[in-house]
Amino acid sequence: MMGNFLSEELIDEIKDANEIVDVISQYIQVKKVGSSYKALCPFHNEKTPSFFINQEKQFYKCFGCGEGGNVINFIMKMESLSFIESIKLLARRANIEIGMTGTSEEIRKQIKEKELCYEINKKAGLYFYGNLRKQPNPALKYLLGRGIISKTLANFGLGYSVNSWDNLMLHLQKEGYSLDDIQKCGLIRQNKSNGYYDYFRNRIMFPIFNTRGDIVGFGGRVIDDSMPKYLNSPETQVFNKSNILYGLNFARKNIKDRQIILVEGYMDVIALHQAGFKNAVASLGTSLTGYQGKLLKKYCDEIIICFDGDEAGEKATMRSLDTLDEAGCQFRIMILPDKKDPDDFIKIYGRNKFREHIDKSMSLIDYKIFLAKIRYFGNTIEDKVRFAKKVSDIIKDIESPIEREAYIEKVANETGISKESIGLEVLDKIKNVSVHRNNFKNNLNYRKYNNYIKMVPLVERKGHIIAEKQLIKFMIIDNKLIEHILNDISAEDFSVAEHREIVAYLASNMDNMKDKRIEELFPHLEENINKILSTDIEYIDLNNTLDKYIVNLKKYKLLYNIKILEEEQHSIINNLNLTKEEVESRLLNIGIEIMKKNAQIQKLKA
Ligand code: GTP
Ligand code: MN
Repeated sequence: MMGNFLSEELIDEIKDANEIVDVISQYIQVKKVGSSYKALCPFHNEKTPSFFINQEKQFYKCFGCGEGGNVINFIMKMESLSFIESIKLLARRANIEIGMTGTSEEIRKQIKEKELCYEINKKAGLYFYGNLRKQPNPALKYLLGRGIISKTLANFGLGYSVNSWDNLMLHLQKEGYSLDDIQKCGLIRQNKSNGYYDYFRNRIMFPIFNTRGDIVGFGGRVIDDSMPKYLNSPETQVFNKSNILYGLNFARKNIKDRQIILVEGYMDVIALHQAGFKNAVASLGTSLTGYQGKLLKKYCDEIIICFDGDEAGEKATMRSLDTLDEAGCQFRIMILPDKKDPDDFIKIYGRNKFREHIDKSMSLIDYKIFLAKIRYFGNTIEDKVRFAKKVSDIIKDIESPIEREAYIEKVANETGISKESIGLEVLDKIKNVSVHRNNFKNNLNYRKYNNYIKMVPLVERKGHIIAEKQLIKFMIIDNKLIEHILNDISAEDFSVAEHREIVAYLASNMDNMKDKRIEELFPHLEENINKILSTDIEYIDLNNTLDKYIVNLKKYKLLYNIKILEEEQHSIINNLNLTKEEVESRLLNIGIEIMKKNAQIQKLKA
């Protein structure tokens, strides 16, 4: 059926427009080796690359698992999409219109509706995002108070749905969308008298992205203690919460050692990303589903389960183990002390401690023994016997006799019961369940360290340095411009020290510059001045040009200030000597400063 509604030529055009190395490089790290390209296969676990891309022939092949094909096959497999959906994705990537002529009516309609849904969700997301930046609002105050810095807010596109019954609805209608379409996205609901009202009101909005980066739905958190704490978008054509992992769209680009940290909540994902653990994802408050397990498997080799340190977290951990095992995932379990969740933990102990805990995370067997110890370990003979029996039951699942032996020894030491007796107990259990072979891979020595991801520094902006030089040149060449320019900015606005020196001089000698040759006044800056004088000047529309440079300088200064403030935020977060209250109030103040600076930048652009 497939070939019928898209012409071969069109398919070829789409293939040609999507260079296979480019496409694959968007998903995995590809290395050039001689004339071909090599990578770790994304479709099976491996430690040495056996996945090859032939650029000339535009196909890929994995000699480990046998997977291979062209760019369309790759997308189908990688994104779990149908042929037609993969074509559609690649066409979109290459900006090719696939005029749907001849397309089966239903598929065309479905694709269109999905696209519309992404579009409306995006508009809604932008709207919420804008609301959060309008001061004052309780959501921003809350988030900043919880230690989320403004950069993180922006990265995750967090927003705010104001306390109104129709705010979003009216906005989207004004943008030209019908109530019917808005409802199909789950953003409004119908009341008994057939009117509509906004689904999300007075909530912090977390856009939920698919792996491609489209917004498929939202999570909304209350700002106070009201219930329900979280409200998720209802199921729509594009949103099924059991198929989505929050944060995966970001994490998949940051998976260094093919390791993913699985946490419980939105806020945990965000806190971990902010602390540099950009490989954290969460399910949307439900138990992990098989689909999610497979999705994880696609992007990583090992999952660190890091659920809350309370009883609910422990139960959720147990439930997710089977799912992960069935999906063929390797995993380790990380335990947080004192009923903390990852977000609290990072705040209290800092990221280095979190890193240490990752490294200390346990294999399944270790984890089970750990739990048995909490529950059954005691000082009486009965306690010890009970514990030893429980643990024997766990040890019997270990396949390797050597490893089994090591565990038996450990338990013997802990209980004072002889190795021989425990060994017999274990053997007994193995016999009793001889048919039952446990699949759990216990990855005892399986230690991987995902590199700590550094904060990316603000890119050095070349434009403003040119702008500084140009402004100085204008002032030197035409002294009348000094007053005009320095009306708007002052020497301190210049970022280069030498420039400040020259401008300060020009400012105080505005009126008697006439016969002075600036190079002679600043012999030590001669080289600098010559450089300045040799930069090209655009004479066209002098006023406009000057304004442009002035705006550029002001903007740079604001950006620079923001960067300093952000660094301050980081050092506050990492300063373990401060109390929680101190951290919160300082972060709040800085957050507000940053917002103000951002607003000033916006104004400059207008
Ligand atoms: P904070 O309490 O703000 O730190 O958020 P959290 O993400 O840590 O939430 P929590 O640990 O309480 O819950 C974990 C996850 O379960 C949340 O991120 C939600 O996805 C989900 N969840 C929690 N409460 C609710 C609820 O009332 N309704 C729904 N649908 N999901 C919830
Ligand atoms: Mn929490």
